[in-house]
Amino acid sequence: MSTALLTGLRPVVAHGLVRTFAARPVLDGLDLTVAPGTRLGLIGENGTGKSTLLRLLAGVDVPDAGTVAVPADLVYLPQEPEVDEGSTVGTMLDEALRPLHDAVRALEELAERMVREDVSAEYDEVLAWAIAHDAWDADRRAEVTAAVLGVADLDRSRLVGTLSGGQRTRLALAAALVRRPAVLLLDEPTNHLDDEALDLLERSLVELPGVVIAASHDRTFLDRVATELYDLDAGVLGTDGRGGRRFGGSFTEYLAAQADSRRRWEETFVAQQEEIAALRERTHVDLRSVAAGRGPTDNDKFITKFKGAGVERARARRVHDAERRLEVAEREALPKPPAPLRFAAPLTGGAATVSVRDLRVAGRLSLDLLDVDPGEKLLVTGPNGSGKSTLLAVLAGQVLPDAGSVQVGARRVATVTQDPEFARPDRPARDVYADAVGAAVAEAVPLRSLGLLHPRDHGTAVGALSVGQRRRLSLAIAVAVGPDLLLLDEPTNHVSLRLAGELEEALGAAAGTVVVTSHDRWLRSRWEGPALALAAP
Ligand SMILES: Nc1ncnc2c1ncn2[C@@H]1O[C@H](COP(=O)(O)OP(=O)(O)OP(=O)(O)O)[C@@H](O)[C@H]1O
Ligand SMILES: [Mg+2]
Repeated sequence: MSTALLTGLRPVVAHGLVRTFAARPVLDGLDLTVAPGTRLGLIGENGTGKSTLLRLLAGVDVPDAGTVAVPADLVYLPQEPEVDEGSTVGTMLDEALRPLHDAVRALEELAERMVREDVSAEYDEVLAWAIAHDAWDADRRAEVTAAVLGVADLDRSRLVGTLSGGQRTRLALAAALVRRPAVLLLDEPTNHLDDEALDLLERSLVELPGVVIAASHDRTFLDRVATELYDLDAGVLGTDGRGGRRFGGSFTEYLAAQADSRRRWEETFVAQQEEIAALRERTHVDLRSVAAGRGPTDNDKFITKFKGAGVERARARRVHDAERRLEVAEREALPKPPAPLRFAAPLTGGAATVSVRDLRVAGRLSLDLLDVDPGEKLLVTGPNGSGKSTLLAVLAGQVLPDAGSVQVGARRVATVTQDPEFARPDRPARDVYADAVGAAVAEAVPLRSLGLLHPRDHGTAVGALSVGQRRRLSLAIAVAVGPDLLLLDEPTNHVSLRLAGELEEALGAAAGTVVVTSHDRWLRSRWEGPALALAAP
């Protein structure tokens, strides 16, 4: 038996995958093979089908056509953690450890039986599996992982459904890293992690011998973890000039290659269209001069007199030739490069002030002093649980402090929360927008004018939008009213790199006051304004 079979380390193979929603194919004949040892970064604009693909590979959704072959030893962590009503913190961690404990116990039993009977084949199989899963180190790993991911102190009897989204994500991630499956499918795994947790995640992934496929918009994560990238958004030229979606370099290198490919596409498109126009012109002009039943001009008469019917034949040949070339040129012409969505609306209206003294929210936040001047952009950082979101909720008036004073001088405050939820998931995006901002604003600032959600998706029910598209909609609602104080909670989570860059630009240009929380290493490293670092509770 080969070691690959023994360890369960086999490739993930998808063939001809098609998945269609509301008559629009999101995936249209996708082929993908990912070998063990490969860590594939799945990238692309919001709504291009990253989560859809992961769901198909995980077997929680079925394709309309095509096949998926994935080793059974698989763990899938969805973009929004699922609530398993029955399980507790303790059962989740125990279940991750059980197969590893079982393997170690089975090895001991097989070693004992070996003296009486030949069980060496079975022994080899379990041994290879245990090595690939580093089974002897499982308990130590569980301890370290739970501590770093901040789930060690959770009550083991607590129901998973009562945890916050971030806690649930970190618990599921801890269980997956302890378990070391042959295939790990991660959908935006970095959104709820602080620096220490990110570091642990990245180190753990790099050590896995199997397949890792991770959808992500996190540049630093992709640069550190991915051995290859797969772009669901790649234009017709791809990054290799032949429509390929796969890229074997770092993410930073990829961004340059992608920009290059887009430029070549635009140039080729223009050149092809010019050639087509010229050929059309030629067939048109020549056609006119050989048109049947048309009296010859004086000039034609003159030429015909000297050269006879040969001229007519040559002209007909030329027309025929141009027609053929036109046909080929039209057939091979690249489609027009689609104009990307572009967010360039002002973020804020007027400007606000904030003044905080001796603020306490029991168990969540403690902040002695904060002053934010009109028009200031403040970055709030801090580890998981340091109270970043709580601070925004207090400034928005949604959470009342237990002690201290909070003064916000603003006519309008708008918040983009970390995981926006919409009360009516069945309502189309455009109606949700209009309800939230009011008819007058919806007319003055139509959703399409903001460049955040593709018009194609305006009629989609908000519950069916991708996670990034939902965040884009909630950003649209926040900026449409022109707030004096804009509160952005982790604005780069789930949103494409393009939008992250555009947001950065918009922040620089905004007249109003903005408070931003972020753990995004990219955003933080580029931040030039004032910053407030909250300490762990
Ligand atoms: N049940 C559904 N009905 C209609 N459209 C759907 C449904 N599920 C997904 N879609 C659409 O399919 C597209 C792909 O969604 P998917 O969640 O796979 O995108 P994604 O690449 O993961 O985006 P993100 O970066 O925001 O996470 C989106 O345009 C979404 O609106
Ligand atoms: Mg997604």
